[in-house]
Amino acid sequence: MLDKIKEHLQDIENAIVTDAKELEVFRVNYLGSKGLLKGFFNEFKNIPNEHKKEFGKTLNDFKKSAQGKFDELQQKIQSSGVKKESPQLDLTLPGYPVNVGSRHPVSIIINEMNDIFSKIGFIIKESFEIEDDWHNFSALNFPEEHPARDMQDTFFIESKIKQALRTHTSSVQVRVMENEQPPIRIIAPGRVFRNEAISARSHCIFHQVEGLYIDKNVSFADMKQTLLYFAKEFFGKAKIRLRPSYFPFTEPSAEMDVYWGLETEVDHKITKGTGWLEVLGCGMVDPNVLDNCGIDSKIYSGYAFGIGVERIAMQRFNIPDIRMIFENDVRFLKQFTQVV
Ligand code: DAH
Repeated sequence: MLDKIKEHLQDIENAIVTDAKELEVFRVNYLGSKGLLKGFFNEFKNIPNEHKKEFGKTLNDFKKSAQGKFDELQQKIQSSGVKKESPQLDLTLPGYPVNVGSRHPVSIIINEMNDIFSKIGFIIKESFEIEDDWHNFSALNFPEEHPARDMQDTFFIESKIKQALRTHTSSVQVRVMENEQPPIRIIAPGRVFRNEAISARSHCIFHQVEGLYIDKNVSFADMKQTLLYFAKEFFGKAKIRLRPSYFPFTEPSAEMDVYWGLETEVDHKITKGTGWLEVLGCGMVDPNVLDNCGIDSKIYSGYAFGIGVERIAMQRFNIPDIRMIFENDVRFLKQFTQVV
C-alpha cells in the first residue's frame, strides 16, 4: 500500500494541466470525495497497528502534496486566463495617428485625363525631359533662328549636341511618330520647362498633356468631337469653341475654350466676365511635321492638342498661387487626401 501511495506522489509531482477543465479532473482524482486521498484514508483502519504511524505520515505527505500541487496549478491557470480573457489594453486611449498619404493635385488631374482619353483608345506615352533641338523644335517645324522659337523661352544645356529641357510635350509626338506607323493614338503627360520668371500665375516648371491622333482621313471635325467629349467628361460642360490661333506644328491651329457660364461670381472671375475658359491648344498636324517624322503626309493626316495642367488644377482646386503646387508644403498637400 505504501508503495502505491508513493507512486501516486510521483504522479502528482509530474502533473501538468492546461486549462480549468483538466484542473478539475486533477482535483476530483486526488482530492475529491471519491478520490484517491479519501480512499487511502478509508484504508487506514485496515492497516496493522505497527504500521499505522508510517502509513499516517505518508498519507499526510500525499495530502499536502496533492493540495499543494492543486493550488499551484490553479494559480498558473488563473494567471494565464487573465492574460487571455482581458488583455492589458485600454481601449479608451487615443490611437496612434496614421499619416494618410495623398495624391498631388497635378497627379490627380493627369490621372483623370489619362482615364478619359484611355476610354476612347488613346495610349499613354512618356519620353525624355532633356531633349535635343530636333525633337523639341526642328521636327516640329520651328525653323532654325525662326522667331517662333522665342515663343518658348528655353533652358539650354551645355553639351556637345544642342540639348535643352523640353519646353513642351509636343516632343513626344515626334518620338512616337519616328518609331511607329499610323494608326497612332497617344496622349503624353509630362513635365516641361521654360525660362520664365516665377510668379503667382507662372512657373518655370509645369505639366502638359499632349494628344496625337494620326490615321487615314482624320479630319478637323474628328478633333472637335474628341475635344468636346473631353470637355464633357472632364469639366461636365457641353459647349466648346475653337478660336483660330498659331502653332508652328499645326495647320490650321486653334485654341479651345469651354463655355463655363456666367451664373456665379466665381464664373465671372475665372472667365474674366466672358463665360469662356481657355483650356488647350490644338490643330491639324502640319504635313511638314508628318514628313519630318517619316509618316507620309499624302496618305495620313491627324490632329494634336496640348493641355496645360497647372492652370486647370488651380481652377479645379481653387489654388490661388502656382508656387504652392511646387513647394510641397505638407499642409498644402494634406488637403488632397480625400480626392482620389
Ligand atoms: N506645345 C504647345 C505649347 O506648349 C501646346 C500645343 C498646341 C500642343 C497645339 C499641340 C497642339 O499638340 O496641337 O504651347
